[in-house]
Amino acid sequence: MTVEHTSRLPGFYKRLLAERAAIVAQWGDLSPAEQSALLGIGGLSAAQADHMIENAVGVYALPLGIATNFLINDQDILIPMVIEEPSVVAAVSNAARLFRAGGGFTTSSDEPIMIGQLQVLDLDDVYVAAGKVMAEKANLLAEINRIGGSIVKSGGGAKDIEVRPMPKTSVGGMLIVHLLYDTRDAMGANAINTAVEHIAPRITEITGGRVVLRILSNLTDRRKARASGMIPAAELATEAMSGDEVVRAVVEAGVFAEVDPYRAATHNKGIMNGVDAVIIATGNDWRAVEAGAHAYAARNGQYSSLTRWWQDADGNLRGEIEMPLAVGIVGGATRVHPTAQLALKIMRIQSARQLAEIVVSVGLAQNFAAMRALATEGIQRGHMEMHARQIAVAAGSPPEWVARVVQQMIDEKNIRPERARAIINELQNHT
Ligand code: MEV
Repeated sequence: MTVEHTSRLPGFYKRLLAERAAIVAQWGDLSPAEQSALLGIGGLSAAQADHMIENAVGVYALPLGIATNFLINDQDILIPMVIEEPSVVAAVSNAARLFRAGGGFTTSSDEPIMIGQLQVLDLDDVYVAAGKVMAEKANLLAEINRIGGSIVKSGGGAKDIEVRPMPKTSVGGMLIVHLLYDTRDAMGANAINTAVEHIAPRITEITGGRVVLRILSNLTDRRKARASGMIPAAELATEAMSGDEVVRAVVEAGVFAEVDPYRAATHNKGIMNGVDAVIIATGNDWRAVEAGAHAYAARNGQYSSLTRWWQDADGNLRGEIEMPLAVGIVGGATRVHPTAQLALKIMRIQSARQLAEIVVSVGLAQNFAAMRALATEGIQRGHMEMHARQIAVAAGSPPEWVARVVQQMIDEKNIRPERARAIINELQNHT
């Protein structure tokens, strides 16, 4: 089987799992050992798990799928996603096909700057203390960078210090010192926590206060990623609605999430379906990314949407996303987990920023897919597919035939156990 280097793989979903794995293996130039890891054989071992957390007793597996059709900054990318929820990978692949018709995604990202926080209490005057810290800024930065390490060697490290005096809190005046630290290709939690702990005694000395908390902030709003894309209206026409009507309905759905926190929570959850799946596939900390995303969504005082959707002058649908994304490609679980390494290899990731930009593209596509379904046929049609799959499996379909049995039942609008059994019999007679 030869694979062209395009992520546009029509009918990928109809193939057998083994065939899909072979296509991805060829695409990613995977060794036999790597192919086994993809299939969960020789993936994360119990021994590796034992080194990752305390009290380990085993490993827990989840499905690994591949999102097709992504074109990001003119590059074809196959995207590994780890998720237990059906329909997510299919929906995002379908959405990516439509964005592809509009030229694919365009992305950008900030330098990988993380924020470390120090909490200073028992100060006579928080403003005076803030001034003293700022006067020592250059020395503090130099002192932190003297710790060294691979991040500093590769051009990262402490870059700046900011102060946030809070004269009146319920526990008295509080000075919050922010250390801005460039973590390069690492997520950087360890580096930044080491840095703030290291510098805490100096902050005590400078301010005369009491330093208590020393920890990174998960609101990583200096480390954001952005993606935007267009879908030609003509691509969106359905049997019941014109392309223009679908564009408007999607825009209206987007505005609903902008103005209403109840809708925004669900809307952003749909974005995170895609974001988290790639974050997990690459061994990154999805709780950190979740925390950052939702805090950022509430930055203006009202929880709102992470995306914006509008109709452009040509009548086409345009969307954009911006969110904090603290992800790494070195260190942590990414380094230890063999399948996470594979995920990076399949995507040909060279930097943490590149990964962040892919992740937000997936988030934007996932958001569009949900809104289109909701604004047109409703979400239940997809759920019928899930229902059909469960019926096919319960009717005794071998795993490699499930997709075919499901499709036929849906085409015939006849989703019942006896029909599933009849289709399975027909397939058996054919082979
Ligand atoms: C379900 O996992 C996600 C959706 O609820 C997202 C949304 O409503 O936009 C479909």
